[in-house]
Amino acid sequence: MTTRQYTAFDQLINGLDQALHTIFGPAPAPSRPNPAATLPEAEFSAAERELAGRLMRVNHAGEISAQALYQGQALTAKLPNVRDKMEQAAVEENDHLAWTEERIHELGTHTSHLAPFWYAGSFAIGALAGIAGDKWSLGFVVETECQVIRHLDSHLARLPEQDAKSRAVLEQMRTDEAHHATTAVAAGAAELPAPVKSLMALTSKLMTRTAYWI
Ligand SMILES: [Fe+2]
Ligand SMILES: [Fe+2]
Repeated sequence: MTTRQYTAFDQLINGLDQALHTIFGPAPAPSRPNPAATLPEAEFSAAERELAGRLMRVNHAGEISAQALYQGQALTAKLPNVRDKMEQAAVEENDHLAWTEERIHELGTHTSHLAPFWYAGSFAIGALAGIAGDKWSLGFVVETECQVIRHLDSHLARLPEQDAKSRAVLEQMRTDEAHHATTAVAAGAAELPAPVKSLMALTSKLMTRTAYWI
């Protein structure tokens, strides 16, 4: 049996293929059942439905960014001893992408029109983090996940009370993100300098504010 050696060109094409699938969907089949699958659909007023749709769009944009960050890091980072764990995290991020996409459609709205920008920006940031070295790259994962968790908490508080389906998806995501952060800490993540954390918070604010509307 022969193992195929991938050339730089093959890798480029694979990367582009992955990017286009992430941005334009549908997300690849999730590895786990949707946590909202067995829950009944709620009754919404028009305003409540719109709010839930917008919040889930923001979460979906965040997951597009998560995919791009991991794919960018995978391109440049060595991560020899942690690659398996990071790959498992990437599989779970794909579940999040698929679940939020499904919920957005159930709520009758669309994913962010700016997805290609969220993807490109996050891919570049991920690739830079990978170049900086594994401990910084892992530190970046930890900080990203911590910010995502705070963000999910705020959305869980803002969602219409009766929206059990969106809530179930966000709660499973919160559990997974916390696990990703713990895994990265255990793998030797360095604590990022405060200005880097602030810059990351600013970038994510820009994304979440914009994806709420478009
Ligand atoms: Fe995620
Ligand atoms: Fe995550």
